[in-house]
Amino acid sequence: MGNKAELHYDGEVYELPVITGTENENALDISKLRGQSGLITLDRGFKNTGSCKSSITFLNGEEGILRYRGYSIEELAEKSTFLEVAFLLIYSELPTKEELDNFVNEISTHSLVHEDVKSILDGFPSKSHPMGVLSSLVSSLTAFYPKSLDPNRSKEEINGTIIRAIAKLPTLAAWSFKNRMRQPVIYPDNQLGYCENFIRMMFSLPTVAYEVNPVIADALDKLLILHADHEQNCSTSTVRIVGSSHASLYTSVSSGIAALWGPLHGGANQAVIEMLEEIKEDGGDIDKYVAKAKDKSDPFRLMGFGHRVYKNFDPRATIIKKAADDVLDELGINDPVLDIAKKLEKVALNDTYFKERGLYPNVDFYSGIIYRALGIPTDMFTVMFALGRLPGWIAQWKEMRENHEPIGRPRQVYTGSSARQYVSIENR
Ligand code: ACO
Repeated sequence: MGNKAELHYDGEVYELPVITGTENENALDISKLRGQSGLITLDRGFKNTGSCKSSITFLNGEEGILRYRGYSIEELAEKSTFLEVAFLLIYSELPTKEELDNFVNEISTHSLVHEDVKSILDGFPSKSHPMGVLSSLVSSLTAFYPKSLDPNRSKEEINGTIIRAIAKLPTLAAWSFKNRMRQPVIYPDNQLGYCENFIRMMFSLPTVAYEVNPVIADALDKLLILHADHEQNCSTSTVRIVGSSHASLYTSVSSGIAALWGPLHGGANQAVIEMLEEIKEDGGDIDKYVAKAKDKSDPFRLMGFGHRVYKNFDPRATIIKKAADDVLDELGINDPVLDIAKKLEKVALNDTYFKERGLYPNVDFYSGIIYRALGIPTDMFTVMFALGRLPGWIAQWKEMRENHEPIGRPRQVYTGSSARQYVSIENR
């Protein structure tokens, strides 16, 4: 049959082309199926559906492989920097020294945001979750850069929009935290590196001299690399689908931030620490929580466990677990929550419920522990994830536009009432 599959339905045979990716993964192309047979496919949660062809990230969940543009996550996390990885994801190749210098320079010189952003920020109550504030502020960039609303502008203009997004997100993220603390915002410092600048905007005060600890800046840089892209996950698919209506990059990224916020996705890093603290407060009885997670009548899940695609291990979790140990060692922190995490991991990994379902710690299981050690407050954890994921969202949005993807519009199987007559309110 070669590169075709056959579907036998209602006495007819339909040929479905088989598309093969670079890593020999095969897909049935069903794009003409409805026109030919009247059939659609049903796949709740898109568990088995490819929404696009993409050359950005390769992920093999069975073997725990993650590569950006062909480079392994292990090698990038060890040898590269976040902005180098951002360049790689967005422009397809590792930058030369000159390209990287220009990129870094462009980003530092665009890190300031319009002064009016402060008035928008002031309108948010101090209790606002920084993810909500961040999503709104990113969307507000369309007001300051109205030309960005048109995604069909020249390559140079689109690139300007991309640079501004990367340059301004740390400023907006740190300011959303400052709003939470009711502290004055700190302006970016162009002389500092990407992560150093962000840390300074987060933690310094105008009244006190502040020096960024390089251990913290390096750990953050590595975390951002690990989060930079993860192919067609919930937030990235959101960015693509919003962008597919020709909405602007800022609007699409703002929607991506909203999608990332949920505890089943990026919000898991906050939920993990809250869960570990709860276990600690409750006397550290790990078995009790493992039993709760297995109990189908209890909505409790072990946060940071399980992944839609990784069913053996999450390669990012392996890197991050070691990084958590190193950071805690270097900063001389003894975190009892880390001990709970390690015990919980051990118990769950040896439990048949978790083994049978392929539930392993994911990247978020350990990232929260590092963020805590770095002094980042819990409700900023998902903001850190958004900072890391931004280059991936941009690369995916750009690829979607360059490939002229059609508007995203799934179908459904309708299960409601069939046609019926309207009944006036008196007769109901
Ligand atoms: N604790 C207990 N049971 C779990 C967990 C968990 N964390 N995760 C999945 N399961 C069980 C489900 O109850 C289900 O059991 P069943 O087959 O007996 O019904 C089975 O494992 C499969 O789970 P699904 O929810 O169908 O798997 P899905 O691929 O849809 O979900 C998800 C993946 C959302 C990540 C899930 O594992 C989960 O909720 N994990 C906790 C939240 C989390 O850590 N999210 C971060 C993901 S990583 C990221 O976004 C960066």
